[in-house]
Amino acid sequence: MAFELQRVVPWGRNFDEYRRMFTLREEDLSKRIISFGDGPAGFNAQMTTLGYQVVSLDPIYQFSKASLGQRIRETKDEVLAQLRNNEANFVWTTIKDIPELEQIRMEAMQTFLADYEAGKEQGRYVPHALPDQTPFQDDEFGLGLSSHFLILYAKLGLEFHLQSIREMLRICQEVRIFPLLDLDAKESSVLPDIVDFFSKEYTVSIEQVSYEFQRNGNRMLRIAKSSFGMDRPVKNSIN
Ligand SMILES: C[S@@+](CC[C@H](N)C(=O)[O-])C[C@H]1O[C@@H](n2cnc3c(N)ncnc32)[C@H](O)[C@@H]1O
Repeated sequence: MAFELQRVVPWGRNFDEYRRMFTLREEDLSKRIISFGDGPAGFNAQMTTLGYQVVSLDPIYQFSKASLGQRIRETKDEVLAQLRNNEANFVWTTIKDIPELEQIRMEAMQTFLADYEAGKEQGRYVPHALPDQTPFQDDEFGLGLSSHFLILYAKLGLEFHLQSIREMLRICQEVRIFPLLDLDAKESSVLPDIVDFFSKEYTVSIEQVSYEFQRNGNRMLRIAKSSFGMDRPVKNSIN
């Protein structure tokens, strides 16, 4: 089915949020990173400015800068109204209120838009929809990220998530996914089966992170081909 711009509600986070959602340390940042469902996040642009290497994938990258900019302007008030109606599902400590949230999100999306055309030419923004096969070689990336797509959209079904993560693990040494909640801020129904499935073959852990905006959304899933470094806890169960 065609991916229609009229059904896209663009919303993007920034580098500092990614750093905290995924506990990205210097040794992680300096790996070759690929970020799935990266949308209009500022992460790729900011990482590139800092001299790191990131490739972002998302079906919205088939659209032009002008179309995406217009869609962001068209939908932002609707997203903010939904957030206002669900304020209790969020933690207002780091981000103090809706106006501050609007400022942070718009800044991230402007950073993305300003980088988009150059990034597309450099192959940093690649149109792609999971769970389709990506155009990359096995183990081409050190780290694969999914922020606010996999696991969050539990309604896509377990098979979608398993196939998507399998493709991510084909091209990445390690994959990190955040958050582990669904859109109603409840633990995602697909999480236990994902953990069971990948624990058979990989090192799987659930780790607390220093980012929490969705209430109780402060854990990420890590799946790696080898054991994690000695500095990190290794757990094969949900804690
Ligand atoms: C909530 S946004 C998250 C954007 C960004 N990762 C962030 O955290 O700021 C979810 C993204 O998933 C993308 N998406 C939707 N269907 C997808 C698919 N089948 N494969 C990959 N990404 C998809 C959307 O286009 C959207 O940009």
